Amino acid sequence: MALNTTNKLMEKIVSLAKRKGFIFQSSEIYGGLNSCYDYGPLGIELKKNVKELWWKSMVYERDDVEGVDASILMHPRVWEASGHVEGFTDPLIDCKNCKSRFREDKVDTSKPCPVCGNKDTFTEARSFNLMFKTFMGPLEDSANIVYLRPETAQGIFTNFHNVREASRQKLPFGIAQIGKAFRNEITPGNFTFRTREFEQMEMQFFVSPDEDEKWFEYWKAKRMEWYQRLGLTKSKLRFHEHGPNELAHYAKAAFDIEYEFPFDWQEIEGIHNRTDFDLGRHAEYSTRNLSYFDEQKQQKYIPYVIETSIGCDRTVLTCLIDAYTEEEERVVLKFAPSIAPTKAAVFPLVKKDGMTEYAHKLIDDLRGDYRVFYDESGAVGRRYRRQDEAGTPFCITIDNETLENNTVTIRNRDTMAQERISSNQVKPYLAEHLKY
Ligand code: GAP
Repeated sequence: MALNTTNKLMEKIVSLAKRKGFIFQSSEIYGGLNSCYDYGPLGIELKKNVKELWWKSMVYERDDVEGVDASILMHPRVWEASGHVEGFTDPLIDCKNCKSRFREDKVDTSKPCPVCGNKDTFTEARSFNLMFKTFMGPLEDSANIVYLRPETAQGIFTNFHNVREASRQKLPFGIAQIGKAFRNEITPGNFTFRTREFEQMEMQFFVSPDEDEKWFEYWKAKRMEWYQRLGLTKSKLRFHEHGPNELAHYAKAAFDIEYEFPFDWQEIEGIHNRTDFDLGRHAEYSTRNLSYFDEQKQQKYIPYVIETSIGCDRTVLTCLIDAYTEEEERVVLKFAPSIAPTKAAVFPLVKKDGMTEYAHKLIDDLRGDYRVFYDESGAVGRRYRRQDEAGTPFCITIDNETLENNTVTIRNRDTMAQERISSNQVKPYLAEHLKY
């Protein structure tokens, strides 16, 4: 896609996201805080649905994955053991002329500065650690430094034995977690694609060392399958295998799941074979025994870990982009019904003859099960358009015929086709069409 078209499309999505209440700039009334975002009424529902769908497939539908919710602040030794204190760095360069900052691997330093256009103005690269630091307790000295976690994974490793013992799991089994992570990115951007505060949905699957490759293949396939449940366009998803230069220090093998964003193919999820690196290092740094005795094999070993790691905010952005559709007369967000923020809208055709009361009764009946929206203002066509832009899959209208024979029209967002069904069939109809 040409750069201009790309920018225009992203601009339209950012503007729709704000107008409809999906995503706002953080602290906007103060001029905004760079790369931090807030979710509005529709955004929080979309995000919640994405998280629930992930949790359902990773935890509820299986017997071999347990959940945790670890704290964001952890013992500083955790980040020494994980390698983040030493190695979680990006090479940073500055333009001496315009003072812009870049990741060295993202600019061609033999060319002019992409911001001011001057040549030979770049400084030498310096290593910049991406972890946010803060202090625990009243004294701001080096002995009290703690970090905002840059990934949720470490809270899983440190709880490996706690969870295993409490849940009486045997290998192979996994631990899943959804939570905030923080990275002081040098070049955040593309709306919520790369931010400094974001949520991750990570799962570490602990296996015996001789079964790592089998489970790696299993999780690769399983995770790609999940994106179909999310409703993403299949042809816009692909695997990218990490070459030897891309592999993280802990990884034996890694594949990204990439999506074709308007700005480029980019990673949404990483699947990594982390070997016994993490538990091995935590055993060394904590001096605790983190090995596992395999009764079946009659062997003791440090488990290998297959990790699936996905950014929740990045996935929400992907869903917004994938759903965004411009048609001749309307803009519509064609979310999979399972993740749509509002499941149905109910309209009385006019505000008289008992139609509003009928609509409220129907809404009250649906409310316990679904997020539904009531709208009585403006022409019905306009109300449909408003729901199309919010991605609401079904609009139910109460009209004269409803009052005569207890039937309503139900309109499909994508086809715009309407069918008439009995009002007591609305709930089963939604149940049938919203299941996933
Ligand atoms: N525990 C492994 C790990 O954190 P990662 O590839 O650095 O691996 C995993 O991150 C996922 O987290 C990415 O695929 C991406 O979706 C998300 N992510 C990483 N950095 C992000 C950022 N600055 N903003 C938004 N999402 C981010």
